[in-house]
Amino acid sequence: MSISIIGSGAIGGALATRFAARGLEVVIANRRGPDSLESLSSRLGSAVHAVSVPEALKADIVILAVPFGAIPAAVAGVVDWQGRIVIDASNAIDFPAFTPTDLGGRLSSEVVAAAVPGARLVKAFNTLPAAVLAAEPATDGGRRVLFVSGDDAAANAEVRKLIEQLGFAAIDLGPIGEGGRSQQFGGALVLQKLVKLD
Ligand SMILES: NC(=O)c1ccc[n+]([C@@H]2O[C@H](COP(=O)([O-])OP(=O)(O)OC[C@H]3O[C@@H](n4cnc5c(N)ncnc54)[C@H](OP(=O)(O)O)[C@@H]3O)[C@@H](O)[C@H]2O)c1
Repeated sequence: MSISIIGSGAIGGALATRFAARGLEVVIANRRGPDSLESLSSRLGSAVHAVSVPEALKADIVILAVPFGAIPAAVAGVVDWQGRIVIDASNAIDFPAFTPTDLGGRLSSEVVAAAVPGARLVKAFNTLPAAVLAAEPATDGGRRVLFVSGDDAAANAEVRKLIEQLGFAAIDLGPIGEGGRSQQFGGALVLQKLVKLD
């Protein structure tokens, strides 16, 4: 099962750090190209490989760690995702107000789903500040909690498994339009640094 991260900023870098810590293979891409990722991949070691965006878009699971507004450009290279899993780690935020973007009543993940036709979209990795996501998830006698939501139960289960492999505790909120609403920016579960006790 190949996994890629598109975006190498605060969240993409945090995720790459956690993959490296567990020795889980991942490829990572950004706008500027693989050469710009040399120091990141040499710092994180052999599990993290820098590639181009077109290469990263071929993975079985593609994690989108780019600004919400940049997603259409980032995924433009794929016409039909043919059932592959896309993980939406984005939050739709207006800066500098730090308020949810007005999407005319649509949830941000519904907008992202429309940009990745044929994909099984799962929202995950969007609820913790980047520095907390980057840190060791075993903490305070338990494991840091991450949420997943998506309309395909098997894809949610796959992403839960990945989250657990990365050392976090995963909670499935169900479909995006139901339990997953609370995982959208502005919802009750965003920026909650919860720990599940072992
Ligand atoms: N920062 C947080 O604490 C936090 C927490 C939860 C969720 N999020 C969400 O995570 C997402 C990423 O946030 P961030 O803070 O990591 O942003 P960031 O530090 O600004 O990094 C953004 C990354 O996206 C890449 N990118 C932009 N457009 C692209 C394109 N068309 N193709 C490929 N790569 C592209 C950039 O590439 P270059 O490096 O080449 O410019 C950069 O690596 C956002 O949606 C944000 O809302 C952030």
